[in-house]
Amino acid sequence: MQSAPIHPHDDMFHGSTEHYASVGTQMADLVSHAAELARADSPNVLELPCGYGRVTRHLAAQFDPQNVHVADIMVPAVDFCVETFGVTGYRIVDPVYEFQNVPDSFFEVAALGSLITYLSGRNARTVMRHFFEKLKPGGVAVVTTHGARSREILGTVDCYQVGESARAHLLDSYDAGQFGFVNYMPDHSLEAKTVDYIGDSYGIALIPQNWVNDVCHESNLTVLEYRPGGWDNHQDVFFITRN
Ligand SMILES: C[S@@+](CC[C@H](N)C(=O)[O-])C[C@H]1O[C@@H](n2cnc3c(N)ncnc32)[C@H](O)[C@@H]1O
Repeated sequence: MQSAPIHPHDDMFHGSTEHYASVGTQMADLVSHAAELARADSPNVLELPCGYGRVTRHLAAQFDPQNVHVADIMVPAVDFCVETFGVTGYRIVDPVYEFQNVPDSFFEVAALGSLITYLSGRNARTVMRHFFEKLKPGGVAVVTTHGARSREILGTVDCYQVGESARAHLLDSYDAGQFGFVNYMPDHSLEAKTVDYIGDSYGIALIPQNWVNDVCHESNLTVLEYRPGGWDNHQDVFFITRN
């Protein structure tokens, strides 16, 4: 299934099939590591969000596709993943940060890859709380952020196309230990189809490690491992268990 077509609307494809495959494989490997940490041999796996299956295709290869469940707010993306990879899909509906149609306490392993990276602190906190209700106690999730490594990159270049004042705001917030969130510039090209679909609530966040630790503390979660830049030498990776 790794060789399945890349959907023409997939914002995660930036022109290099090698890079697309590498990022997808890396996340599937991180999910496999989460399964080891959870001591789950044939886990039920949740991927939220799935987009158009950059990661899903590798999850369907590494795990039994019947045990892989995916969710996204973009209906055509969920439908594509279900039809192409044989996984179970959930179309996320209002209230969109609560995932009410995804079963609670069902998954040994879950991936929250590249979602809170695009949300305000308030929405990201709601997502974290409801996403972790989907894990069984003892389950382990992979959560990614724009964190320490993104701070380094953004310090040198406007890699997220947010413009200079927004970039300064993100850096200042992060350096003060605060969650930073801004919108893209009107003429940005990154994630353009996704922003068109979702609207202005979807922008760019920069997230200090302490924010993740605080949310975990509030929600009875424990960070097992932290890997700065651990996904594609870009997003920070947390392995987090539900106690
Ligand atoms: C950057 S993409 C990441 C997709 C996938 N995790 C990957 O790495 O290829 C972010 C995805 O989040 C989805 N999304 C945004 N808000 C969402 C919400 N409230 N619930 C579910 N999915 C959402 C978008 O539709 C988009 O597919």
